[in-house]
Amino acid sequence: MGCTSSNEVVEADIKNDLSLYFQTGKIGSIQVKNRFVMAALTRCRANPATGIANDIMVDYYSQRASFGMILTECSQISPLSNAFPGSAGIYSKEQVEGWKKVTQKVHEKGGKIVLQIWHSGRAVLKEFIGGADPLAPSAIAIRTPHAYTKGPHPVPKEMTKEDIKKVVEEFRQGALNAKEAGFDGVQLHGANGYLVDQFLRDGTNKRTDEYGGSIANRTRFLLECLDALISVFGADKVGIKLSPTGRYNDMYDSNPKELMKYVLAELEKKKIAFVEVKRHGFLESSKDPNQENDDFGQTQPKKQWPDIFQQIRNLYKGTLILNDGITKEEGLDLLKNRQADFISFGQFAISNPDLPYRFKQGLELAKADYTTFFTPGAKGYSDYPTAQTQKS
Ligand SMILES: Cc1cc2nc3c(=O)[nH]c(=O)nc-3n(C[C@H](O)[C@H](O)[C@H](O)COP(=O)(O)O)c2cc1C
Repeated sequence: MGCTSSNEVVEADIKNDLSLYFQTGKIGSIQVKNRFVMAALTRCRANPATGIANDIMVDYYSQRASFGMILTECSQISPLSNAFPGSAGIYSKEQVEGWKKVTQKVHEKGGKIVLQIWHSGRAVLKEFIGGADPLAPSAIAIRTPHAYTKGPHPVPKEMTKEDIKKVVEEFRQGALNAKEAGFDGVQLHGANGYLVDQFLRDGTNKRTDEYGGSIANRTRFLLECLDALISVFGADKVGIKLSPTGRYNDMYDSNPKELMKYVLAELEKKKIAFVEVKRHGFLESSKDPNQENDDFGQTQPKKQWPDIFQQIRNLYKGTLILNDGITKEEGLDLLKNRQADFISFGQFAISNPDLPYRFKQGLELAKADYTTFFTPGAKGYSDYPTAQTQKS
């Protein structure tokens, strides 16, 4: 009672040793000052007509420069690929100029910033893209209602080989633009039910050509997009986000573990800078034990592969960033056990611009206000105080 063995003391000391979060490191060739990564967060603050980043975005991103690396909101490679009006794009000269102001300010404040590069595929409404048909591997619509309009999603057009080539080229051009805008690298958005993920998983990919069917075929599009990014930045500045078990956007794969075995082995060969893995939304379960809520409060079927964090390191030896619902304590355990090299935080980064400082000082964390996640202006965006400004 009240007495601990020396082993327990040592174990407790290691467990509480926050210095693990503050070790410098390298993500590919990107030198970072700590183990905190700001996860990609769509906030819809850019001009909805032009997709150009603005001054409040300069404030917002640069306020978070104390994270080892910032991943930007998903940034569209073409007008057709944008499911979120107000998301900042990476296909026009003006968008490059807008992003330049963001990267310059983040760099001035000693931060690193990587663009999450994105095509939404079927997850877009026709009214957002001038009445055009959304693109997807197969003509299968999202069955859940649209998050904003609550209406149905359109049936997408099955991409032809020409469509595929064109999109891969758009990724390459997007990477060239990102380089010109001063980003430290790019992250391919391969998660959350957008185009790359739609090709990967067998719930959305029913193709019979070399882009569908076997796991190797379903991974082909991802690898072609990745190669396009690598041709511009080099593998050591290119990463990817994957969410093999996520159900957001009505996604499903019948065997996510087998899928990841193949995908991660291919990624390891490419020696890319990092892989970020998001586990199934970790919010509280609903009353029905067979149902779960995802990030956006939608009811979803029961979780697959619940111990993904314990197993993923065995499948991938490169730099690994883990994500979703990770607390300070769990993050520390993941770092300590070498299950993760870095931890990415989403909602904590929204409401705690100085998250590393708050962790270090043992300060309380502010809660994110979801009612302002996607509303225009500074409120609930660039006006979250740091612990220090709050005091004064
Ligand atoms: C408001 C909001 C916007 C998001 N936008 C993106 C996005 O643009 N790209 C992406 O990969 N994930 C996006 N996500 C998911 C987060 O990156 C992250 O995976 C998720 O919030 C789980 O991490 P957390 O529990 O630390 O918040 C978004 C999440 C939220 C809450």
